[in-house]
Amino acid sequence: MIDDFIRANTVLQAPSMVPELRLHLATEITPIWRASEADLERMGVPPPYWAFCWPGGQAIARHILDHPELVRGRRVLDFAAGSGMAAFAAVKAGAVGATGNDIDAYAVAAIRLNAEANGLAIKIDGRDLLVLEAQRDFDVILAGDVCYERPLAETVFAWLQAQAKLGALVLLGDPGRPYKPTQGIAEMARYDIPTSLQLENHGMKETIVWRVLP
Ligand SMILES: C[S@@+](CC[C@H](N)C(=O)[O-])C[C@H]1O[C@@H](n2cnc3c(N)ncnc32)[C@H](O)[C@@H]1O
Repeated sequence: MIDDFIRANTVLQAPSMVPELRLHLATEITPIWRASEADLERMGVPPPYWAFCWPGGQAIARHILDHPELVRGRRVLDFAAGSGMAAFAAVKAGAVGATGNDIDAYAVAAIRLNAEANGLAIKIDGRDLLVLEAQRDFDVILAGDVCYERPLAETVFAWLQAQAKLGALVLLGDPGRPYKPTQGIAEMARYDIPTSLQLENHGMKETIVWRVLP
């Protein structure tokens, strides 16, 4: 049922900055693109974050594909993975194991379908990791575009910092969202990411890959 919804409302296509992948994504011709929040609520569908490749995730995915030494041979978590794009990039860059995590059941299904479409094996975790005690389960943690709402951004950043203190390399991809942390991060790379005017009100978003400091 969720799989049918995803297939009916997306097209398999490459994210603009990550031509190495093909993902089930909304386009201007697929209905989900035009559906308002009220339409989706009537259908019982949560906002389809998983149907878009957000600038933060694209910057991280591009960065690790161009710098595979960051993830090669390491256990990688794509936190709040949406489509799973950064987890797939990590596998392509040589991670020994990658996990895509998202609390949205539609995202969990989209990650599975996207993994199949690319012939990539990853683990999928639908738990809310933020309410669990931080453990050293991963060597690298990727978090693309998670600073769009204040309570989420604050909780996520505290959790990411705890992971960095445990020794993980933690990368935060952010296109200047209002609740991006202002301290405890160091710039690693900067990209201009093409975005849709409807989604972002800009055709291009300068996006930074930050390292979260312990
Ligand atoms: C703007 S999207 C970013 C998706 C992806 N990282 C990217 O850059 O394309 C934010 C995602 O965070 C997920 N999310 C929100 N709260 C979460 C939580 N506590 N744990 C895991 N994922 C969460 C949402 O379901 C959504 O898929």
